Amino acid sequence: MEIQLWREILDPYALAVDELVVKFNHIIKEHRMAGIYSPIEQVNGRVKTISSILEKAQKKQISLDKMEEHIEDIAGIRIICQFVEDIYKVVDMIKHRSDMTVKSEKDYIVNQKASGYRSYHMIICYTVETMRGPREIHVEIQIRTLAMNFWATIEHSLQYKYKENMPENLSSRLHKAAEAIIVLDQEMSSVRDEIMDAQNSFNIKAHIVADILTNIQNLYKVANKREVVKIQDEFFRIYNTGDLEQLSRFSRELDIISEGYRAQSLG
Ligand code: GTP
Ligand code: MG
Repeated sequence: MEIQLWREILDPYALAVDELVVKFNHIIKEHRMAGIYSPIEQVNGRVKTISSILEKAQKKQISLDKMEEHIEDIAGIRIICQFVEDIYKVVDMIKHRSDMTVKSEKDYIVNQKASGYRSYHMIICYTVETMRGPREIHVEIQIRTLAMNFWATIEHSLQYKYKENMPENLSSRLHKAAEAIIVLDQEMSSVRDEIMDAQNSFNIKAHIVADILTNIQNLYKVANKREVVKIQDEFFRIYNTGDLEQLSRFSRELDIISEGYRAQSLG
């Protein structure tokens, strides 16, 4: 097949990957802006290379004119989560979206693969608009934790290095590592609430501090310098106590002071 023809075939897949990466990243952003913990930590996407499409077609005896029907991972999205629980939240989120439908799914977390591989896989149908009108294509979404991703990345590069001839002792060490990853994910889940609380209060604190600094900066323009320096010193003192409650009270007081100046300047 000519290179130009490949480009035409692969282009809608590239568009789908680009669009989906934007959409999933936006979910992260929406959560962060609202100060809510995001079940998605990170999103990556890729279009399968021509050479690995050819390799797969040959291995699975798929003729090239049937390739789009039978190779479902030409477009691939990988969603990384912090906790196993988050994976199922993301699965649910995907099932309830109006811009994609789920064609099939495989839970390799409940049903771990023989290699030790764990992840949640979904094949979705997704429509892109092209010059010639709408095109519905398949996209493979892999959802896994940071720990699962760590294991899969290392195992994949070893698999690539040894092909079918992975030394016995290496594959048994990978199995042991896979067991350790399960324990790690379980340990993380058991402290999940505390980690989430810590992340939330970190976000809240960052917001309050940003508000205070903006207010102080604006006061510099309108208020008596000595008064602003006093406010600033008070801010540093409270900040150093690490007391979120006090910081939030201080921020509200500062809002009232700023409001007063704004009223004055309008009047
Ligand atoms: P493929 O021919 O690889 O697509 O297999 P399949 O159609 O049975 O799909 P499956 O869901 O098993 O795997 C799809 C993808 O998951 C692969 O392309 C890999 O990215 C990943 N994967 C599956 N098994 C393993 C594994 O044992 N190790 C690693 N590192 N990745 C895997
Ligand atoms: Mg596959």
